[in-house]
Amino acid sequence: MSVKKSGAEVRLTGVGKRYGKVTAVKPLDLVIAPGSIVTLLGPSGCGKTTLLRMIAGLERVSDGRIMIGGRDVTDLSAGERNVSMVFQSYALFPHMSVRENVAFGLISEGMAKASAHAKADEALVTVGLKGLGDRLPSEMSGGQQQRVAVARALVLKPDVLLFDEPLSNLDARLRRSMREEIRDLQQRLGVTVVYVTHDQSEALAVSDVIVVMKAAEIAQAGTPRTLYEEPANVFVATFMGEANNVKGTIEAVKDGRASVRLDTALLSLPARDLTPGPVDVVIRPEAIRLHPAGTPNGLPATVATATYMGAHAEYNLETLVGRLFAIAPEADALRKPGDAVVLILAERGTMVVKP
Ligand SMILES: Nc1ncnc2c1ncn2[C@@H]1O[C@H](COP(=O)(O)OP(=O)(O)OP(=O)(O)O)[C@@H](O)[C@H]1O
Ligand SMILES: [Mg+2]
Repeated sequence: MSVKKSGAEVRLTGVGKRYGKVTAVKPLDLVIAPGSIVTLLGPSGCGKTTLLRMIAGLERVSDGRIMIGGRDVTDLSAGERNVSMVFQSYALFPHMSVRENVAFGLISEGMAKASAHAKADEALVTVGLKGLGDRLPSEMSGGQQQRVAVARALVLKPDVLLFDEPLSNLDARLRRSMREEIRDLQQRLGVTVVYVTHDQSEALAVSDVIVVMKAAEIAQAGTPRTLYEEPANVFVATFMGEANNVKGTIEAVKDGRASVRLDTALLSLPARDLTPGPVDVVIRPEAIRLHPAGTPNGLPATVATATYMGAHAEYNLETLVGRLFAIAPEADALRKPGDAVVLILAERGTMVVKP
């Protein structure tokens, strides 16, 4: 019976990084469960790569401690941490065969060439490249080169595998299938993975936990569902998929439900620990339903634009609380610009968020 290797826990305590006057990562705490896949998601410059490189040991911390598998690795070099990193550019040696590329790390560690090549061939099988070890990287497609880079990281049997935007050089279709493969590989090997991306759909697809970063800080960490359905703030709500953001007022809270006023509409929504007063209301485009003018308890609106999209229709709608973007499933009953309608907001996809 093959024993599933389980990955190590990664524990960051007060870990931060400054470059002179630039704070790349403010001191933060994060615990990554063994054998889980965690993505660091956020806009350019928010500190994702810096955080990953500190875990890898490629960058020294300015503050805090890093523990991997219960061992304090803060002062250890990259080679002493038992972590491997897959880079965006793959960084393959062009003059070496695929097998030599994969075996390189093992040979540097002192393994005999024949054994290292045998291990490399095993790793190539794991990533679906059986029999391609004799090729040069230039004779491989982008997706295959990506897999060689993964095999090169895996062959070292790391406790933690780190990926920095591994799919950004691939086209959309290949990205989709490669992210499934990475997820599948992670599940089979049970290794802990930390994965950097700025693509929210990639993060939703691969992660056990997503850590959303904004300006050198963690904006929110949680499961994909928590981040999408219960965002802690407007930044997370709008970063995790499309969302309208308008101002409303909580008029009352009772039994965990808030009565939320949006113009003439009074919505009943989960209060999420908020109290009466001004509030941000985040509305997903799919939560907006168009009804005939005069329908009670809704938000009056005028159609600004209407676009037939085949399977659905897209609308921009003017309301007294602002312009809303809506995606409606019934494309056949397309409204026209200037039509008066009433918007009914579904509870799923409509959320109050702390202002
Ligand atoms: N070696 C360095 N010296 C000075 N500043 C740096 C250095 N490396 C990164 N920074 C700064 O630290 C911040 C975070 O950079 P980082 O590369 O971690 O961002 P990122 O989230 O990975 O962005 P991207 O999505 O563009 O890759 C940025 O403001 C960047 O300019
Ligand atoms: Mg980066």
